[in-house]
Amino acid sequence: MKFFIDTANLDQIKEAQELGILDGVTTNPSLMAKEGITGRDNIINHYKAICEIVDGDVSAEVIATDFEGIVKEGEELAALHSQIVVKVPMIKDGVKAIKYFSDKGIKTNCTLVFSVGQALLAAKAGATYVSPFIGRLDDISTDGLNLINDIRLVYDNYAFETQILAASVRHTMHVIDCARIGADVMTGPLSSIVGLLKHPLTDIGLEKFLADYRKGN
Ligand code: G3P
Repeated sequence: MKFFIDTANLDQIKEAQELGILDGVTTNPSLMAKEGITGRDNIINHYKAICEIVDGDVSAEVIATDFEGIVKEGEELAALHSQIVVKVPMIKDGVKAIKYFSDKGIKTNCTLVFSVGQALLAAKAGATYVSPFIGRLDDISTDGLNLINDIRLVYDNYAFETQILAASVRHTMHVIDCARIGADVMTGPLSSIVGLLKHPLTDIGLEKFLADYRKGN
């Protein structure tokens, strides 16, 4: 299972990278705005800075919503760095653009996916990743993990190569449940990754080992 971090915060990206378990980064316009990154040039430079920190795929989202605009913006983003994956919304022109990018060998991440039908279309268009938003489904009393399960079933039925990127992950249990189901990738905040480290018996056990060592030394 690949671990992506879902942030545009460079310190948090560095911390996850230094842990040695990071496979990539996802961003979106809201995450950029949260870090105060505004204006096209600053956003472009920020993507480049992220690519310098991590070794894996970095999703960069298009703002255009028409086919020509998505293609133009996506090609510019893809040309920035070999690690850039063009993030395209699940809309009609987005699906057309994903097919276009796929035919040209440009990696894509189909975002804002909330149903199996949408995931099926993304795979048919040749998306590299599909991003079902599990936390936002949970927010409206709909089980987000069920969607991951259903997409896994459908993709396995036809051996689609599109990778299921569980997005809008909010906490450690989302990560663990996605791993149980067999999501290919999860993207979440730093807390959902480092939270996996924690167990009180580990802390108690370590304290005891160190105390016993100190007794004899
Ligand atoms: O990757 C999608 C993600 O950024 C959305 O997360 O927590 O805003 O629903 P959230």
